[in-house]
Amino acid sequence: MSLLDLHLLGSPVLREASAPVAAVDDEVRRFVADLFETMHAAKGVGLAANQVGVARRIAVVDAEGERLVLINPRILASQGKETGEEGCLSIPDYYADVTRPEQVTVEALDEQGQRWEKTLTGLPARAVQHEIDHLDGILFLDHLSLLKRKRMLAKYKKEHADDPSFIKPVATVAPEKG
Ligand code: NI
Repeated sequence: MSLLDLHLLGSPVLREASAPVAAVDDEVRRFVADLFETMHAAKGVGLAANQVGVARRIAVVDAEGERLVLINPRILASQGKETGEEGCLSIPDYYADVTRPEQVTVEALDEQGQRWEKTLTGLPARAVQHEIDHLDGILFLDHLSLLKRKRMLAKYKKEHADDPSFIKPVATVAPEKG
């Protein structure tokens, strides 16, 4: 296994719609293992493939005991609304309240290519929605009001003005969570 470099806000791949996985093979399994390792090293609860520069519909979540492999994931049903704080490994040190459905039923393939389906609430539900957003090129800040989003982007640009690089080794990014 190996740690993968994270792509940060500004990297074009974060805005790409990712391509479905045609076959779950050894290469995909290795990649899933690397995603888990990278996410754990960065102390995140979820990580999508395009956050490491790979525009394929693969993500992982490990939150509150839910270890989920999301290959070609799809939300089948959602209900309720809940507001909670989110961060993102691609936008280190930035957090904001995001309102999302409280409960989601998701289907996906696991690393064996087996279809699974689960109804989730709480942090796992939030993390799965956040990661599926990534696969569609959507970031949590897109859920904020225009004013809040503009403020956050302006602050981020200012803070990163001296360091315009979009790609970082995990060790130098996100000492907290995301
Ligand atoms: Ni994220």
